[in-house]
Amino acid sequence: MAVPFVEGWDLVQTLGEGAYGEVQLAVNRKTEEAVAVKIVDMKRAAECPENIKKEICINKMLHHKNIVRFYGHRKEGNIQYLFLEYCRGGELFDRIEPDVGMPEHEAHSFFQQLIAGVEYLHGLGITHRDIKPENLLLDDRDQLKISDFGLATVFRHGGKERLLNKMCGTLPYVAPELIKTRGFHAEPVDVWSCGIVLTAMLAGELPWDQPNDACQEYCDWKEKKHYLNPWKKVDSVPLALLCKILTEHPDTRITIPGIKKERWFTKIIKKGLKRSRVSSGGGSDSPGNLFKHIRSEMELSQVSHSGDKTTYSSTQPEPRTAMPAWDSNPSLIDNLVQGKGLSFSQPACPDNMLLNSQLLGTPGSSQNPWQRLVKRMTRFFTRVDAENSYSTLKDNCEKMGYVCKKTCPNQVTLSTMDRRNNKLIFKVSVFEMEERILLDFRLSKGDGLEFKRHFLKIKKKLDDIVANQKLTLSTT
Ligand code: ADE
Repeated sequence: MAVPFVEGWDLVQTLGEGAYGEVQLAVNRKTEEAVAVKIVDMKRAAECPENIKKEICINKMLHHKNIVRFYGHRKEGNIQYLFLEYCRGGELFDRIEPDVGMPEHEAHSFFQQLIAGVEYLHGLGITHRDIKPENLLLDDRDQLKISDFGLATVFRHGGKERLLNKMCGTLPYVAPELIKTRGFHAEPVDVWSCGIVLTAMLAGELPWDQPNDACQEYCDWKEKKHYLNPWKKVDSVPLALLCKILTEHPDTRITIPGIKKERWFTKIIKKGLKRSRVSSGGGSDSPGNLFKHIRSEMELSQVSHSGDKTTYSSTQPEPRTAMPAWDSNPSLIDNLVQGKGLSFSQPACPDNMLLNSQLLGTPGSSQNPWQRLVKRMTRFFTRVDAENSYSTLKDNCEKMGYVCKKTCPNQVTLSTMDRRNNKLIFKVSVFEMEERILLDFRLSKGDGLEFKRHFLKIKKKLDDIVANQKLTLSTT
């Protein structure tokens, strides 16, 4: 069903979904400009209208190369549409190989950019509160962009800092004082989560479920058992920095100015093994001074500080295709924000709308811009037909202990508990493309690294039907 909202822009694919709603990719039919649209149904949660207002307010304040650009928002009935820079490089999370990580020079560059973004936020008195690889996006030049300000809040205003007491974030990334203490400073909590992100980048695993004394891995870390995983995979220089970041007491934890003076941070790291990159859309960038007029109209006094409720973010948006160059014509996106150009088509199963044969193809120079794909490891082609692909997937997954439910004609939802006993839910879509079948895995709920481990295990089990790697879009 088409919901004619405005002309000229199409919602072409789901980039991600979460408790809030979803993020869609909007493309201008003529110019192929691309914008990410976060669609929030305000009816879903009682607290939601306030939260979304706060997210919009905060977004309006932000202008930095390491923060996802905010173009504006629109309200249609109970739905809020947030128009955001589309990051065609995907999630940082997709550059992390489970149990391995990524080359040190890449982790170094991403960490420097992450710290630059967080330093900027803290300078404005804003804390993100949910820093994790799933919320760190990349553009086509590997510029890191902090995304999703749904849990962000103001901790300093008019030079006055307030302590936080709300438990929010994602447990493996939260600082110990957030679990233990009533009032805590905002900045050290973000610094801690940057340290967990750095660990994930250098070792491909998260060090613990949560940083408290009930967690053996956390106790081992405090006892400096660096001969254990993940620390034994980390070189001594970055490990020295991690020791200073993952310091239990926030008062003695290193600060951002301290991090910037650290040996590993300032070091020039030689490139080792080069990793394949996202195929570029051709020098695209976000529009320089676009939406200058969308400056902060925020009256800080209006920012709502919700009570003491625990808020955990649940799922991670997931980018899929690379887009054509963005030679932006500001007026086009202006129109979009003002509601003069977006048409929403909503098929019975929204996930189906994207992957038709026009949108996916074999990577290579003959591709049209739609066919360039973000480097994503969670999909592969099969050598058998759709029916066989589906039944092989289902049979094997059931044998492996997954609960399998057919959610759409071409989609199955798999649920299980991960190795940390946390719920893990993901969807597998079966797409037919130019006589080939693509199995596309997407995380719905749970830890991203665990999702990848499960994907690899399933792919291995399905080895007999997985097509030759060269034919696949997967780059791992
Ligand atoms: N997923 C969520 N937000 C996104 C964005 N801004 N760009 C690309 N993918 C996204």
